[in-house]
Amino acid sequence: MKIALAGSGYVGLVSGACFADFGHEVVCVDKDPGKIERLRAGEMPIYEPGLAELVRRNVAAGRLSFTTQLGEGIAGASAIFIAVGTPSRRGDGHADLSFVHAVAAEIGENLRNPAVIVTKSTVPVGTGDEVERIVGASGTQQRFAVASNPEFLREGAAIDDFKRPNRIVIGTEDEWARGVLSEVYRPLFLNKAPILFTSRRSAELIKYAANAFLATKITFINEIADLCEKTGGDVQDVARGIGLDNRIGPKFLHAGPGYGGSCFPKDTLALLKTAEDHDTPLRIVEAVAKVNDTRKRAMGRKVIEALGKDARGKKVALLGLTFKPNTDDMRDAPSLAIARTLIDAGVTVAAYDPEGMDLARTLLPDVAMAANAYAATEGADAVVIVTEWDAFRALDLERIKQLAKAPVLVDLRNIYHPDEIRAQGFTYVSIGRG
Ligand code: UDX
Repeated sequence: MKIALAGSGYVGLVSGACFADFGHEVVCVDKDPGKIERLRAGEMPIYEPGLAELVRRNVAAGRLSFTTQLGEGIAGASAIFIAVGTPSRRGDGHADLSFVHAVAAEIGENLRNPAVIVTKSTVPVGTGDEVERIVGASGTQQRFAVASNPEFLREGAAIDDFKRPNRIVIGTEDEWARGVLSEVYRPLFLNKAPILFTSRRSAELIKYAANAFLATKITFINEIADLCEKTGGDVQDVARGIGLDNRIGPKFLHAGPGYGGSCFPKDTLALLKTAEDHDTPLRIVEAVAKVNDTRKRAMGRKVIEALGKDARGKKVALLGLTFKPNTDDMRDAPSLAIARTLIDAGVTVAAYDPEGMDLARTLLPDVAMAANAYAATEGADAVVIVTEWDAFRALDLERIKQLAKAPVLVDLRNIYHPDEIRAQGFTYVSIGRG
C-alpha cells in the first residue's frame, strides 16, 4: 500500500520510517526544502535513537522517499496522514490549527484518487469535522474519508513505541476508512497489538485525556515527594508501595523536577482551552498545569538553598539540560527555569548535556556550556543532576569531589542512593527522601 505523510517532523518522520519498515511504500512530504534535502542525504533533522539507520535501510530498499511536492507525494496513496505541528497559539494556549487546515486544503486540491485522510497531529476534539469540511470545500471529485489516529510516541523511545504499541487508536465512523487503516497497521495486528476502533471524536479526546492523565500522575507523585521531605518518608518507597496496586500501576510515578517536553505542557493547556470553550472546567488538569509550572522554579530555589547562606557569586554545574534523556529536545525543559532562577539570584551556571547543548546555547545564552560533566564541575559550589542521562548514573564521584569547590550534589532525578553518596563525603540533596 502507498502511504503519504504530510509533515516530516518528529511524528511524520518516525511514523513514515516505521510504516516503510512494515513493507509499505511511503513518501514523506515537507514544505521545508532544506529538511528534505538533508533527509535525502541521510541526515536526520532530530536526534532519535535508531532513526537514521531505519531511514537509511528503507530508503536503500526503495520503500521510503522524500519530497517537497504534496501533489506528487500523495499521488496513488490510499492513506494520507496529516502530521504537521499544532503548537500552542501565541497568547491564548489554544492549539494552533493553521498548519492542519492549510495542509487539508492542499490535500483537497491535489487529490487525484480515493484516499483516507488521517490526522496524526494532536488536534482538539472536532478538528476531524473541520478537516472533512475543508477537503470537501476544495471541490475534489474523489472519494475521501477523514479518520483520527493519534500517536503515543515517547521521544527517545519512539521507534519501539511505534512498533510495539500498548494500543492503536483509530477513530472513524466509515467502514472503508476502517478497512484501509486495518491494512496500514496489519503487521501490528499480527503481533496482537490491541487496536481500538472508536468514533473520530472519541479518538481525538483519547489523546488529550491520556496525556493529561499521565501529567496528573507525575504531578501527584511530585506533591507527595514534597510531603515526604517534610514528614520524613521516602517517595521511592511510597511510589513502589502504591504502584504495586494493579489499579494504580508503577509507571509515571517517578518524582522529579516537573514534566517538560513537546507534549504534556502544550496538550494540557490546549485541553483546558477546549474545556473552557465547552463550559466544562477540568479543575484537576488546571491544578496539574499550575503546580507543574511553579515546581520548575521551585527546583531552582532548592538548589539555592543547597548552596547555603549567600548564593550570589557562587557557581553551579547543571548536568543534563534536555527535558528527558535520549533526546535533544529542550522544549519546556525544567533546566530552563532552574538556570534562570539561579542566574536571577546572581549564581554563575555551567552546564553539560550529551545532546541538548546546541539548542540550549540559544535558549540560555548566559550559561557556559562545558565539554563534559567533569569540565562543568570545575570550581562548582554544587553539582545538580537535572536530566537522568545514563552517562550521569556512574559518575566518577571522587573526581567530582576533587574538581568541585564544595562536595554538594543535588540529584533532581533520584539516580543515586543517599547513604552511598553521603558515605563518600557529599552533602546530598534529592527529591522526596526526607
Ligand atoms: C509524552 C507521552 O508519553 C507520549 O505518549 C505522547 O505521545 C507525547 O508525550 P514525551 O513527552 O516524549 O512523551 O516524554 P515522556 O517520557 O512521557 O516524559 C514527559 C515528561 O515527564 C518528561 O519531562 C519526564 O522527565 C517527565 N516524567 C515522566 C517524570 O517526571 N516522571 C515520570 O514518572 C515520567
